[in-house]
Amino acid sequence: MKELLVATRNAGKIRELKLLLKEYPIAVTSLLDYPDMPEIIEDAETFEGNAAKKAVVIAQHTGRIVMGEDSGLSVEALGGRPGVYSARYAGEKATDQQNNTKLLQELKDVPMSRRKACYHSYIALADPKGVIGVVSGTCHGIIATEPHGTNGFGYDPLFIVPQYHKTFGQLNPSIKAEISHRSWALKKFKLEFGDYLKRL
Ligand code: IMP
Repeated sequence: MKELLVATRNAGKIRELKLLLKEYPIAVTSLLDYPDMPEIIEDAETFEGNAAKKAVVIAQHTGRIVMGEDSGLSVEALGGRPGVYSARYAGEKATDQQNNTKLLQELKDVPMSRRKACYHSYIALADPKGVIGVVSGTCHGIIATEPHGTNGFGYDPLFIVPQYHKTFGQLNPSIKAEISHRSWALKKFKLEFGDYLKRL
């Protein structure tokens, strides 16, 4: 079976990308399947730059076509933070729970009317010569005052989807797969780069 390597070690992300790419007859693999791949230093100031860097570093290391995804949460009342630092908001090796606790702490005096937030996902495709292209998707929500649900990963127990009045932590993964930032980015990805997936 053909294989698409995704340059991430985030198990939640991989699970979602596998679901979102299930119509293709390809095996979606990740750096968790290849423990000896190089560490990727995420030092770009933008999601786009980090997505491209992940894809290029691993494409050059393997000589293959590689997908990179960089994503995060921007909270309006925090001037867009945690943004590109979403994974390490509470510290370099922070757990999702530590990041969520820090977010709630920072928003403790902020009323519901000012807790608007947005998830961003940037997906890059690269080959050993460099970036082939980058697409993006967004998803709007509101940050809850306490966690709800255990589905998803990261900030999902705090991210209320207004149309459902529930967090992604509470919603079925199939709903997240329809409306998430990652799913919108993947929809564009399939339109622009679907041919690469057929030719892997
Ligand atoms: P990255 O691996 O550097 O792209 O970091 C992404 C981080 O953003 C994750 O560790 C989460 O904290 C957050 N994030 C991105 N997408 C999602 C999502 O779909 N749900 C919850 N948190 C997310």
